[in-house]
Amino acid sequence: MAVRGMCVIGDMRFPGRTDIMSDVRIYVAQWLVIANPESAENGDLLYDVRLLVTELAGNAVKHTVSGRWRYGSFRVRMWLGTRRVRVEVTDQGALTRPRLRAAPTGSGGRGLRIVDATAVQWGVARRGVGRGVWFELPVRAPLRGGSVVGTDVSP
Ligand SMILES: Nc1ncnc2c1ncn2[C@@H]1O[C@H](COP(=O)(O)OP(=O)(O)OP(=O)(O)O)[C@@H](O)[C@H]1O
Ligand SMILES: [Mg+2]
Repeated sequence: MAVRGMCVIGDMRFPGRTDIMSDVRIYVAQWLVIANPESAENGDLLYDVRLLVTELAGNAVKHTVSGRWRYGSFRVRMWLGTRRVRVEVTDQGALTRPRLRAAPTGSGGRGLRIVDATAVQWGVARRGVGRGVWFELPVRAPLRGGSVVGTDVSP
């Protein structure tokens, strides 16, 4: 899937389990820093990318088929444009749909509110039997080539 004005900088399928969330965070931070080395200095951006991808990946595992069968999985893709980075988590489908809860309850309803409050834009798209939930965050420096030195890619 092409996103207008953006380049794919990462694409990985993960098993639908919560114990791999730290790997998801490592991958997205690494993809971003490889494509845009200036991001290594932008702790807020790396923090937010990790936080929001964790919420969306957590939802894929908690609420969809991705987390319900032995070989369930979800896909994480990342794009970079001149001003924004975009991340999409694609799940394997559910009877429910991602929806912003008006008020969080004791048992949940905070994840998408965090995404809504943090992202410059987010949304949901149909992807076959599943859904792709995506968000965008602003990047300071435009896409360009470069090597990675001394990056912070801890989960
Ligand atoms: N990928 C998804 N597919 C289907 N339904 C979803 C998906 N993501 C979220 N939802 C639905 O949207 C609701 C709100 O999601 P949200 O992440 O805000 O809260 P939560 O996951 O229930 O709790 P929390 O994130 O606070 O642990 C969920 O309860 C679920 O019904
Ligand atoms: Mg959630």
